[in-house]
Amino acid sequence: MTRTVLALSALAVLLATSPSMAETGDATRGEAIAQQQCARCHDISRGGAFKKMPPSFQAIAIYRTEPDIWARIIAPSPHAAMPEMVWALTPQEVQDVLAYIRSLDGPVTIQGQ
Ligand code: HEC
Repeated sequence: MTRTVLALSALAVLLATSPSMAETGDATRGEAIAQQQCARCHDISRGGAFKKMPPSFQAIAIYRTEPDIWARIIAPSPHAAMPEMVWALTPQEVQDVLAYIRSLDGPVTIQGQ
């Protein structure tokens, strides 16, 4: 019995949509999706400038945690001009874009603005 309960709660954790526990994304696919779905508003390139509106993916990668980024893709802040990508992307595509943004985290040489 205890074992069943443990197994069920483990399953519940696996099924939870928390980004770190969902299937992992593919950064290469994510870049292609970002090009199609995000680049018309965001600078999605590595080394993208900081202090831009909307923020570059480079800045997002460095300033935000993974769960934060995920949440903002799924449910952007209500007063902002970002469409709800939850309607445009499959959960796997969200993971892929997230993986792409996360891949930008790390030391970069930013060109002067
Ligand atoms: C129509 C323009 C538009 C498109 C398309 C768009 N965004 Fe945004 N996004 C914005 C704006 C404006 C903001 C800033 C306001 C906000 O935080 O919601 C923003 C904010 C964000 C943030 C939060 C930034 C922060 O401050 O932490 C994330 C993450 C993000 N976008 C990811 C994406 C991803 C991923 C896509 C593509 C799947 C995308 N956006 C497509 C306009 C857009």
